[in-house]
Amino acid sequence: MSAHPQLDSQGRLQHLLTIDGLPASIITQILDTAQHFKETGADSKKLPLLAGKSVFNLFFEPSTRTRTTFEIAAKRLSADVINLNVAASSQSKGETLLDTVDNLSAMSADMFVVRHAESGAAHMIARHVAAGIHVVNAGDGRHAHPTQALLDMFTIRHFKGSFQNLRVAIIGDVLHSRVARSQIHALTTLKVPEVRVIAPKTLIPKDVENMGVHVYHDMQKGLKDVDVVMALRLQNERMNGALLPSREEFFKYYGLTPEKLAVARSDAIVMHPGPMNRGVEIDSAVADGPQSVILSQVTFGIFVRMAVMAILAENT
Ligand code: CP
Repeated sequence: MSAHPQLDSQGRLQHLLTIDGLPASIITQILDTAQHFKETGADSKKLPLLAGKSVFNLFFEPSTRTRTTFEIAAKRLSADVINLNVAASSQSKGETLLDTVDNLSAMSADMFVVRHAESGAAHMIARHVAAGIHVVNAGDGRHAHPTQALLDMFTIRHFKGSFQNLRVAIIGDVLHSRVARSQIHALTTLKVPEVRVIAPKTLIPKDVENMGVHVYHDMQKGLKDVDVVMALRLQNERMNGALLPSREEFFKYYGLTPEKLAVARSDAIVMHPGPMNRGVEIDSAVADGPQSVILSQVTFGIFVRMAVMAILAENT
């Protein structure tokens, strides 16, 4: 493995662990490959690109969208898909994560798709597995959710044509959000001219400006003339202590309502990674409204995850 934990010595993708440091050329390769799958009707026919390969889904945290779309994507590429039932696995008897991985590797695993509450879990597995086994991070703690950011970039490019001349605003719980961190790295790597984050001071990471974003605490100012609005889920499960007065107060000042959205460009798109807290970070009138592309994000996630797995398999 090269100094970069997810690329080999020739700069080819071996694992997808983070967007941080991922070259723009590889992000574009993934988006273009996903576009090819979308255009060639890969949603209706099986492709043989992962035939004979076994993909293990290891989800140690709940998931609806990511786990299911990885499974659909792997099956469309003709892989055998094994979903480890974590609650019924030997983890409950004290088996370590790496022992679990070793035992599944002994069953001829070719790829692990991993979601874990601990930041760095996917990196740890990637360092541990034998050459030729690929690891995809499906969300680790607060750290990264690379395929979510990639499907978000695919969605932006689909609706806006390119990343040039865009103003993008990310709203809400940036502090606890692996999605926001990965989105910011993707947007800045793709040279989006203006990336804003809008949140109360308590939900903004220290030194976030060093990531190349502009910070706003006021929705009226932060949403003014933006082309893309990305709402985040309030991560109640990762919140220690009283970072917010109440969910009602959060909605009053930072909930995305039609009135607040009205200062964005009239053709602005509204995105949310899901799951949504309706009436907390987003009003149903916006979530289900004409500017929402939230369900398109989910569909595009299948093509993007197919692309990631196909590129990894090709690089074996
Ligand atoms: N966006 C996302 O990661 O959703 P799930 O938790 O349902 O996978």
